Amino acid sequence: MSDQAAARPGPDFTAAERDAVYKAIYRRRDIRVFLPDPVDDALLWRLLDAAHHAGSVGFMQPWNFLVVRDGAVKAALKAAVDRERRATACVFEADPARAEKFLSLKVEGIVEAPVLICVTSDPTREGPHVLGRNSDAATDLYSTACAIQNLWLAARVEGVAVGWVSIFRKGDVQEILGIPPHVNPIALLCIGYTPSFPAQPVLETVGWGRRYPLERLVYAERWGARWREHSAAEGG
Ligand SMILES: Cc1cc2nc3c(=O)[nH]c(=O)nc-3n(C[C@H](O)[C@H](O)[C@H](O)COP(=O)(O)O)c2cc1C
Repeated sequence: MSDQAAARPGPDFTAAERDAVYKAIYRRRDIRVFLPDPVDDALLWRLLDAAHHAGSVGFMQPWNFLVVRDGAVKAALKAAVDRERRATACVFEADPARAEKFLSLKVEGIVEAPVLICVTSDPTREGPHVLGRNSDAATDLYSTACAIQNLWLAARVEGVAVGWVSIFRKGDVQEILGIPPHVNPIALLCIGYTPSFPAQPVLETVGWGRRYPLERLVYAERWGARWREHSAAEGG
């Protein structure tokens, strides 16, 4: 055995644990239909702690989590989303059928979900020179998205549904929730129990979009050059 191999740590996940991680990834779904059943605070805290253990640029941890249960506040947020949803439909004006289809989609479950979490990203956390952020100021947003994905996966294994809502004007959400102007609200997460987790994305079921074949997205050595093994498998 080489020295290098001897230095390699053994797997600290069993095969069943490994499979469970992939299962959570494949079975995570964006959910917009919620039951009224409450979500236990201890469970919610576990989800938030999972989010808080995400990677972040320069260990900046730019996130905050604002938990909302108040019906009036949720109603105000829903109204803001509805306004933006109608405004968004205008971008499809050249294709009225697409606009109509967009407006028929349910894009949030804000009022039905027992808990709403507004996830924010603070670009000023840790000052102006965060390790790794100088070359790309958006890395605070990428970090916060990693936190949301952690929460989304943890929720799935707890049997809890999450719906990510991003159709809103930042100013509206900042005003409703008292968020300072420099702090970026990037997601309203609808959280609760759902009657079912669909096998495929809802947008796929309704014919809005479909998953690209991975082979089309993976290149090797140079942009556009398909990864050899998969080109060969496809006979290309
Ligand atoms: C950054 C981001 C923003 C999203 N915003 C919305 C939204 O405003 N409304 C909505 O219904 N779904 C939203 N989604 C969910 C996507 O529509 C969903 O992830 C996608 O259709 C794939 O489905 P799946 O998550 O079930 O795999 C968002 C997802 C992401 C990652």
